[in-house]
Amino acid sequence: MRLILLGAPGAGKGTQANFIKEKYNIPQISTGDMLRAAIKAGTEMGLAAKKVMDAGGLVSDDIIIGLVKDRLKEADCANGYLFDGFPRTIAQADAMKDAGVAVDYVLEIDVPDDMIVERMSGRRSHPGSGRVYHVKFNPPKVEGKDDVTGEELVQRDDDKVETVQKRLDVYHNQTEVLLGYYNKWAQSGQPGAPKYRRISGVGPVEEIRDAAFAALSE
Ligand code: AP5
Ligand code: ZN
Repeated sequence: MRLILLGAPGAGKGTQANFIKEKYNIPQISTGDMLRAAIKAGTEMGLAAKKVMDAGGLVSDDIIIGLVKDRLKEADCANGYLFDGFPRTIAQADAMKDAGVAVDYVLEIDVPDDMIVERMSGRRSHPGSGRVYHVKFNPPKVEGKDDVTGEELVQRDDDKVETVQKRLDVYHNQTEVLLGYYNKWAQSGQPGAPKYRRISGVGPVEEIRDAAFAALSE
């Protein structure tokens, strides 16, 4: 299984990625998680990326494309992969197409903008694994602790209301165009064209998981 998860910030890509990667035994390639790991490691790239991320902008295509191409060379990608938060621009999508990176499914998770801010403000994450929770909608078993490791959960620096609004604007201006890009490719009938599936991201997490599994088996 080789798939791309598309959707606005806070649509639930990371949440659903955790179910899908388990089911298909594939790695989750989250460019956001990779950038946050670089920030934590204190690399030069991480420090530069942090400024852009805290302002809600997009990190440069060259950096992102380089990160993903390197990641795809690792052995665990042989069985498939799940892109989460990537591609985010036409340049990134074209770079994957040009490199012949195969895609079986593009799964769009649709959530209206007015639900996004509440989702972000209650989000808590486990940096080591990428597992995400919500204080109200998807709480951990023990408050403030990861269910699996018991380690401390953190709040993301870019989940402030002003930054969330900026990220939504950037999504509408630069990323949403990819919905049409992949839809068109899916309908082209060209060899290697992906299947395009769209599901609602509104409702209980488990319901959306089941809708995602169903969409990926058609
Ligand atoms: P990234 O980490 O990719 O963030 P994002 O796309 O903005 O998406 P989020 O992680 O915020 O949301 P999500 O859809 O994963 O939702 P989640 O499952 O966590 O990117 C961060 C930054 O890095 C970017 O702004 C950019 O600067 C940079 N970057 C990353 N990739 C890049 C790229 N390719 N190019 C350039 N720059 C890049 O859920 C959100 C919350 O909602 C959680 O609390 C969750 O528990 C809750 N929730 C989930 N599902 C439900 C539900 N069904 N009902 C109620 N609550 C729910
Ligand atoms: Zn995410």
